[in-house]
Amino acid sequence: MKAIRVENPGSGYQLVVGDIPRPVAGEGDVLIKVAGAGLNRADIAQSMGQYPPPPGAPETLGMEVSGEIVEVGSTVTEFRIGDKVCALVPGGGYAEYCVASSGCVLPVPAGVDLVDAAGLPEVHFTVWTNLMDSARLQPGESVLIHGGSSGIGTAAIQLCATRGHTVFATAGAKDKCAACEKLGAARGINYREEDFVAVTKEATRDKGVDVILDMVGGDYIERNFRALARQGRLVNIAFQGGMSAQVNFGLMLMKRLSFMATTLRGRTVAEKTAIRDALARDVWPPIAAGRIKPVIDRVFPLAEAQAAHARMAQSAHIGKILLKL
Ligand SMILES: NC(=O)c1ccc[n+]([C@@H]2O[C@H](COP(=O)([O-])OP(=O)(O)OC[C@H]3O[C@@H](n4cnc5c(N)ncnc54)[C@H](OP(=O)(O)O)[C@@H]3O)[C@@H](O)[C@H]2O)c1
Repeated sequence: MKAIRVENPGSGYQLVVGDIPRPVAGEGDVLIKVAGAGLNRADIAQSMGQYPPPPGAPETLGMEVSGEIVEVGSTVTEFRIGDKVCALVPGGGYAEYCVASSGCVLPVPAGVDLVDAAGLPEVHFTVWTNLMDSARLQPGESVLIHGGSSGIGTAAIQLCATRGHTVFATAGAKDKCAACEKLGAARGINYREEDFVAVTKEATRDKGVDVILDMVGGDYIERNFRALARQGRLVNIAFQGGMSAQVNFGLMLMKRLSFMATTLRGRTVAEKTAIRDALARDVWPPIAAGRIKPVIDRVFPLAEAQAAHARMAQSAHIGKILLKL
């Protein structure tokens, strides 16, 4: 089958279409004929040789797919051949066929295009588990989402706005801030021109925000502590601005803050299945009702995976970049 191969892993990596054996579904798996594959920033890191797939995962890039089930494992009862689904996978998505653990599979929500559904799993698994499981977001609380126009950000803003939270979102350009507001943010904050601490403090009458979802880290850590309300929770899913920082932890002490950081990819299937079940219960219905939409920036043919990566590396996008098989 056709699949993308990374040649010369490192800063000058090339993505080329190659031929690899078609995978086979194990007993608890399904085999998906891929219609769409979502791009994630981790795919760039993996291509640069900086983020190897977890043990046992396919070498091929791609952490989420949509498509049609063509094989089911012997112990799988909840899916059938012919079902249209999307799935979180530990690798192997940039290919014609991809194996997924059945516990990481969800139906394509009503009204969502089959290819576009490839942009749903990674963002919604990540946003849900970080905001709900880790940060324990409560009804009525306010939220600051950094990188609001990212794939993750566009999902997080919509989820929080739909559930009635006041949402603030940072982004690096005027049109990106406008996109955040259109998705439901009360205020898009251009982080190149404005101080998110001052803006959120003013908007909350000096109380601060209850929860922050951050993908920047570095000097944002202390600034996030300053932007948080008493007993606020900060959860990091990436440290694009730096893994180290000089931080005044006295702020944590005085405000009784919690600071967490998590990754999704290395979790067990059982842990991912618990998130999948929560999504099926609480997130897929508002998606099917059209209240949360996949935000698709651009769809590239598989053979143009290199151009798709370049667009993500330049941060030219708003929402998800997808590959179409
Ligand atoms: N831990 C996990 O389990 C997990 C899971 C999924 C994703 N992630 C991580 O989450 C991040 C988002 O993923 P994605 O796929 O949605 O990537 P993406 O669409 O490429 O988003 C990256 C975002 O970071 C924003 N950003 C960069 N510097 C910033 C700054 N100083 N202030 C505010 N925003 C800033 C960019 O905003 P501008 O374009 O406006 O500059 C862009 O929106 C990535 O770093 C990814 O690796 C982690």
